[in-house]
Amino acid sequence: MTRKINIFDTTLRDGEQSPGASMNTEEKLVIAQQLLRLGVDVIEAGFPISSPGDFRSVQQIGQLAGDKATVCALTRAVDKDIDEAARALEGCKRPRIHTGLGVSPQHLHEKLRITEDECVERAVHAVKYAKQYVNDVEFYAEDAGRADQKFLERVIEAVVEAGATVVNIPDTTGYQLPEDFGARIKGLCDHVRGIENVTIAVHTHNDLGMATALALAGVKNGATQIECTINGLGERAGNTALEEVVMAIKMHGDELDAHTDVNTREIMRASRLVTSITGIGVQPNKAIVGANAFAHSSGIHQDGVLKARDTYEIIDPSEVGAKGSEIILTARSGHAALRHRLSELGYTFDEGTFDDIYKRFLDVADQKKEVYDEDLESIVQERQRTQSSSVYTLDALQVSCGHPLIATATVTITDDSGATTTTCEYGTGPVDASYKAIDKIVSMHGDLKEFSVNSISRGIDALGEVVVRIASETGEVFTGRGSDTDIVYSSAKAYVNAINRMVSNARAHDEAQA
Ligand code: KIV
Ligand code: ZN
Repeated sequence: MTRKINIFDTTLRDGEQSPGASMNTEEKLVIAQQLLRLGVDVIEAGFPISSPGDFRSVQQIGQLAGDKATVCALTRAVDKDIDEAARALEGCKRPRIHTGLGVSPQHLHEKLRITEDECVERAVHAVKYAKQYVNDVEFYAEDAGRADQKFLERVIEAVVEAGATVVNIPDTTGYQLPEDFGARIKGLCDHVRGIENVTIAVHTHNDLGMATALALAGVKNGATQIECTINGLGERAGNTALEEVVMAIKMHGDELDAHTDVNTREIMRASRLVTSITGIGVQPNKAIVGANAFAHSSGIHQDGVLKARDTYEIIDPSEVGAKGSEIILTARSGHAALRHRLSELGYTFDEGTFDDIYKRFLDVADQKKEVYDEDLESIVQERQRTQSSSVYTLDALQVSCGHPLIATATVTITDDSGATTTTCEYGTGPVDASYKAIDKIVSMHGDLKEFSVNSISRGIDALGEVVVRIASETGEVFTGRGSDTDIVYSSAKAYVNAINRMVSNARAHDEAQA
C-alpha cells in the first residue's frame, strides 16, 4: 500500500485571500459541503480573529463537518488569536489550530524584527498555548522556502518537541525550484529529531507557475500532507491547485509512493462551484478543470482521439466528473427528469425549494432549446445566492435603447421591509441606465470596479452570466453575479446581488459593533 497523502484544503482561507474572492458564511458552507463530498481530510475554514464572518464560518463549518473532516482555524503566533480560534472550534469534533510565524531572514529582520532565538521562543510558546485547547496543533514556518535550512531545522525540532502534530513547510512566495524544495524536506526528515512522529505538510504558492511541482517534490521527499485550493485560488498567483496534485498523485501513485482519498469525480463540480461563488473564472487551458482540458481541435488530434482516446488524453474526463449529460432537458421535461439530473449533479432539495427551481428551469427552458448542466448549476447557485443575502429583490426591469435613441430603464425593486419602489433613469446604454435607476432606490452605493459578461453554456440562446465587482466607501470589494438569457437583465441582477452583499456586510458589521 502506498502512503496516504492528506489533502488540506485552504480555499476558504488562503483561497479567499485572492483579491475579489471574499465569500460570506452561507457561501463558505456551500463550498465546505462540496469539500466534504470530495473527501478532503482537512478544511481550513478561516482565520477567526480577522473578522466576525471568519469566526462564524469556522464555527459553522466545524459543526457541519462532524467527524468527516478535520476543521482547522488559522492564527498568528499570538495568544489572543489562539484564544479566538479555540472559541470558534468549540463543539467541533475534529478541531485543529494552525499557528505559526515567519522564519526567513526577510520575515525575521523586516516584518517581525526579532532574533532567531525570539522566533524559536514564540513558536514554542504558540504551540504549547494552542495545545491547552486542542490536541491537534499544526505549526507553519512561514516563508520556509527562503529560510536558512539549519535555522528551519532548529525551529521545527523545537515545535515538534513542544507538541505540534503537523509541521507545515510553506514556500510562501513560490520562490524555490522543485528539486531544492524537495531537498529542504529531505533535510528536515534527515536532521530533525522526532520528525518521524509528526506529519510534514507542504504549502506552496504559484508565483513561478511551479506550485504543483513544488508540492509533489515535497511528497517525494517525505511530506504526507498537501495544502491546496480548488482552481489554485489564492494570494497573488495562487496556491497549489487541488485538482492538479490529486490527479498527478492518481496518475503517478507508484512512483510517488502516494495516494489520496479524494473522490476525483467531484472535482469538476467543486471547480464550477468555486468559480460561480467567487466570480473568478478558470482560464480555458487550465489543467484538469479548464474548458479546453479535454477538447481536441486539430484534425490530427481528433483523428487520434477517435481511434483511441488515450492517444492524446491521459485522463478519462469522467474520472474528474467532466462527463456530459445524457438526458436532454427541454421545456417539455417534467419534474422527474429535472430531479434526476439535479441528483446526478449532487443536488437534492425539499419540495418547496425544488418547485422554485423547477419554475426557474421552465423560464430558462422556454427561452432555450436545451438546458445544459452549466445552466442548471447556475439556476441552483443563483437561488442559493438570493436566499442567503436578499435585502433588495429586483422585481422588474424594462429598457428601451437603440441608435440614436437615449437608453432608458425602468426598475422595480422590493426591499426586505416589503416596500416596493419603481423609478426610471437614462444613461449611455441600457446597463448604465439600469444601474443608475437601481442606485436611485438602494441605500448604499458602490463604485463599479469590474464588469464582465460570459456565456455559461452553448449557443446563441445561452445564459449570459454577468459578474460585477463594486467597492464600498471603506474600499471593501463585493462580487455580484446574475444570469439570464437577457444580458441586460443579468447585469441588473448581478448589480443588485453585489449591493445586497455590501448592505448585508455593513449590517453584520453594525450588529457586531452594537
Ligand atoms: O503561504 C503561507 O505561508 C501561508 C501560511 C499562513 C500557512 O498561507
Ligand atoms: Zn499561503
